[in-house]
Amino acid sequence: MSTIAVLGCGKIGEALVSGLVKSGTAASDVIATNRNAQRGAELHERYGVKDEQDNTRAVERAKVIFLCVKPPQIVPLLNEISRALDDNDEDSIVVSMAAGVPIADMEEALPAGTPVIRCMPNTPMLLGAGMNAVVRGRYVNDDHLATVTELLSAVGEVLVLKESQIDAAGALSGSSPAYVFLMAEAMIEAGVEQGLARAEAEQLTISALAGAGAMLKESGEGPATLRANVSSPGGTTMAALREFEESGFRGMFFRAIEACTRKAAQLSKK
Ligand SMILES: NC(=O)c1ccc[n+]([C@@H]2O[C@H](COP(=O)([O-])OP(=O)(O)OC[C@H]3O[C@@H](n4cnc5c(N)ncnc54)[C@H](OP(=O)(O)O)[C@@H]3O)[C@@H](O)[C@H]2O)c1
Repeated sequence: MSTIAVLGCGKIGEALVSGLVKSGTAASDVIATNRNAQRGAELHERYGVKDEQDNTRAVERAKVIFLCVKPPQIVPLLNEISRALDDNDEDSIVVSMAAGVPIADMEEALPAGTPVIRCMPNTPMLLGAGMNAVVRGRYVNDDHLATVTELLSAVGEVLVLKESQIDAAGALSGSSPAYVFLMAEAMIEAGVEQGLARAEAEQLTISALAGAGAMLKESGEGPATLRANVSSPGGTTMAALREFEESGFRGMFFRAIEACTRKAAQLSKK
């Protein structure tokens, strides 16, 4: 029986494991590895997945191997599992979730011809609402891509990109939940400053952001139309929007997305 190995189960690894199990993948087909035994036991308890500390054992029968460790740990991890992958009877596919590690570096660390997919996920995957930008390596055929797309589709959307686009995709998707959480924090503080109790400010903000997100996704209207629809001439929303525009709101996003993309490109070169 082939399995899915998730190597390194921190935030993204857990989000993936959780999403896979919630969407119907048998927990017994998923092996999660951790260096810390207590963390492994916790994940087994929470999701029923197999707990393993030896990465080489985890890949022995694995069809799809997700690498969910930090970027500097990716190549050392590939060196560690390379022999086991070579001995593996499966046509295994390696999927890296790491920012800033080029496919060529991973292919070089693996047995010749290993299919490698580079994925840029995000944490809403935990709720089945993730976004996964994927890039295919040179040994990935259509069947490999279909297998991985099917698994990732269970935890969110999948968009196939070129490797030259992946850093920008990370800035728009991998990192962007943090921008939204920061905006939520700022709105709550501003509401408290206006005299609302913290719990009231939190409820108002979170509900509005979640509702606006759902409208963006489901209304069929673009953001400019949705924004115009709630901006009455001379009204209260326009007064707030004018403050945003005068404070350089759009320019701030251009600079932040550029900084995030540039940082990922710098990490790739290291
Ligand atoms: N978090 C995000 O929103 C996000 C978004 C997009 C992409 N990513 C990418 O996802 C990857 C994981 O990020 P993360 O935020 O999930 O990091 P994290 O929470 O630090 O998780 C990494 C996990 O890997 C474990 N680990 C490290 N080396 C290992 C090894 N040799 N064998 C088994 N387990 C090992 C770590 O355990 P220890 O505690 O023992 O070190 C830790 O639990 C990164 O490459 C990142 O670029 C993350």
